[in-house]
Amino acid sequence: ETIDAGSLRTPIVAVLGHVDHGKTTLLDRIRGSAVQEGEAGAITQHIGATAVPLSTISEMAGALVDPTDFDLPGLLFIDTPGHHSFSTLRSRGGALADIAVLVVDVNDGFQPQTEEAIDILKRTGTPFVVAANKVDTTPGWNPQEGQPIQQSLEAQSDRASSRLNENLYELIGDLSGKGFSADFYWRVQDFQSNIGVVPLSAMTGEGIPDLLTVLMGLSQRYMKEEMSVDVAGPGVGTVLEVKDEQGFGATLDVVLYDGVVREGDTVVVGGRDEPIVTEVRALLQPRPNAEIRAEKQFERVEEVRAAAGVKIAAPDLDEAMSGAPVRVVRGDDEAALEAVKREVR
Ligand code: GTP
Ligand code: NA
Ligand code: MG
Repeated sequence: ETIDAGSLRTPIVAVLGHVDHGKTTLLDRIRGSAVQEGEAGAITQHIGATAVPLSTISEMAGALVDPTDFDLPGLLFIDTPGHHSFSTLRSRGGALADIAVLVVDVNDGFQPQTEEAIDILKRTGTPFVVAANKVDTTPGWNPQEGQPIQQSLEAQSDRASSRLNENLYELIGDLSGKGFSADFYWRVQDFQSNIGVVPLSAMTGEGIPDLLTVLMGLSQRYMKEEMSVDVAGPGVGTVLEVKDEQGFGATLDVVLYDGVVREGDTVVVGGRDEPIVTEVRALLQPRPNAEIRAEKQFERVEEVRAAAGVKIAAPDLDEAMSGAPVRVVRGDDEAALEAVKREVR
């Protein structure tokens, strides 16, 4: 049985973890960008969003992913800040997620915001995998650029392997201390009841094929039903940032997590004092693999379907707030509009 990929919702993958454990660098490696290098103080200060198409994923995953096995359109990655002062943004990112990647520096192990991230994932019931990052910093490591982790492990000395294993077992122990049964991902059968640990390096790319394979498998196996609902319904999203854009005034950077938004749609968005009702003047979509935070060449489109990052240009958005809900209202049913306004408030 084949399913039209166009009818499936793109899964949202949130990337969470302690400050500097490598979340943005991991995404940079996947999308072929250098967002991390442009960050003030090397600290992520906003939630980001990047649509990574299936073609990029299968290219990076090489032999591990056969794109004909998947009918998902790709993955929408949400980057979150790890610095302790941004806990609101971490919760917001976690709440958007269908699945998550918890990034942990293998040498540093569990840190306060690792624990905080786990608590968010527990609270929201979000399935996740652990990216045991920075394996290349293991003393004596022999880097295997972009390779699957098994190949990389075969190229390591006994000494480097056992150093890495010590760190990985400590991580597995910490996860079990948090109430999760975890193991190396290749030993995990059921990713819903067990947490898979993927050793990798965002810097050298080794192990990233494995991470992408696990994420695609998780989305495909457990999320297909959820992914196929509501794809054509009225759009629902969350405002990431309110930004002035030349020629448009205040615009909204939004993660659309359900439904469709079209040019000309009436939208209701949370404002400082009251809900704002306005009409979409333009929809500006980041290019594939572009981080919405950093994108400068948005493409103007007539409609956007979930999940996606999109910049919405519309009149009267000056009082809109980051974190506020956005909803499309179809038709001019006054009662429906009032109901949505109450909900958005
Ligand atoms: P916040 O968003 O501020 O929480 O940080 P982050 O988790 O996004 O980490 P970031 O990508 O900013 O990386 C922090 C530092 O670790 C940077 O100097 C990266 O170059 C480095 N780094 C990240 N991943 C790796 C890795 O796999 N190996 C090595 N050697 N360094 C890495
Ligand atoms: Na950082
Ligand atoms: Mg970051």
